[in-house]
Amino acid sequence: MSRHSASILIVDDEKSILELTSAVLRNRGFRVKTATDGKSALELIVGDEPDLVLLDYVMPGMDGFSALKEIKQRFPGISVIILSGEGDGQIAVELMKRGASGYIQKPFLNQDLVESVDKALKVRGEARNRERLKERDRLLEEIENRSMELEERVREKSIELQRVQDEIIHTEKMSTVGYLSAGMAHEIRNPLNSIGLFVQILKENPEEPERLECLEKIEQEVRRIDAILKKLMDAVKGPRFHISEVSVDKVLDTVIDFLRSRLEMNGIRIRRDFRVIPSPVSADQTEIEQVFTNIMVNSIEEMPGGGVIGVTLDQNDSEVIVRISDTGRGILQEHMTRIFDPFFTTKTSGTGLGLYAVMRIVRAYNGRIDVRSEDGKGTTFSVFLRVSDAVP
Ligand SMILES: Nc1ncnc2c1ncn2[C@@H]1O[C@H](COP(=O)(O)OP(=O)(O)O)[C@@H](O)[C@H]1O
Ligand SMILES: [Mg+2]
Repeated sequence: MSRHSASILIVDDEKSILELTSAVLRNRGFRVKTATDGKSALELIVGDEPDLVLLDYVMPGMDGFSALKEIKQRFPGISVIILSGEGDGQIAVELMKRGASGYIQKPFLNQDLVESVDKALKVRGEARNRERLKERDRLLEEIENRSMELEERVREKSIELQRVQDEIIHTEKMSTVGYLSAGMAHEIRNPLNSIGLFVQILKENPEEPERLECLEKIEQEVRRIDAILKKLMDAVKGPRFHISEVSVDKVLDTVIDFLRSRLEMNGIRIRRDFRVIPSPVSADQTEIEQVFTNIMVNSIEEMPGGGVIGVTLDQNDSEVIVRISDTGRGILQEHMTRIFDPFFTTKTSGTGLGLYAVMRIVRAYNGRIDVRSEDGKGTTFSVFLRVSDAVP
């Protein structure tokens, strides 16, 4: 701000001082207004805020202290210089503490007055500049924060999008592979049946007794292949069979009962934690049983030396949630994306179809599965099934 455009209000009850001071300051190019008491001074300030107030310390009506306090409280941006006839240094200190920018003792030289005014305005200008710089920095920082926030959101959305895309590809792959394998399994079972029949015929008329052993081996292998094929066909079983209102708590108890002897044989304890009586789920009961059987059988197979299987049942607004956790070896990070693929197995005699079937069934009912595993510490499968009265 140029000093010549600065506006000053002079407040003094002595007319002569008002006139003199006004003249000096006007001569220097300042815009000057005057008031003879605190009250009218405040009215003028409210109407048109000056840059600086020259304030007489002793006035009728309102003393300098109160006027200073009021001005500083209501208009903190205005600089105030106190004019005083009393030569008391203590008062000057007190006034500065309360926000005065300067203190001039009457009678004063014109030069002193002008210097004090200049100094106060300069300090005020600098303070304003500092404020502006601070405000600019604050705005810059805010812009930076906002753009970082935006970047973060874009990043999150991209990840989410990628996940959905991966899932779509996975579902498509699964249904194609499933469809083809089920067809193949069906085709293979027919000639396999014939082989089995021929073997039986040969067994009935053995020419050499040692051949019987070979034939029995062949028969055994045929049965094994047949079992694999049957599992494969079950895994991709198409439409739902018998839809009813399934109570997941009952299903879980059925599955636990069904596996009881295997659990005991392997020294595995069940920790059952049913937190709700769940809402029913519209599904084929056998399929839901298969989901939890397959998951639990895997857990049993991962704990040859015994352990604990936790079965937790819970529910939110729209889903029944079942968590099956084990204290087994865990799933290697690099296997995580493959465990639901058909034929993926890490076992010498595994089929790799258990989890494939689990995923197919859960997806068929618009459910979802989450797997957490820590190498060497165990695995948790969380299955979310939509309750039948949930809004889709
Ligand atoms: N609870 C579990 N703990 C560790 N690994 C598991 C668990 N469940 C599944 N897996 C892994 O996922 C693979 C695929 O499982 P699954 O589809 O049931 O086929 P399979 O049991 O015939 O191997 C298993 O071979 C194993 O590597
Ligand atoms: Mg399995």
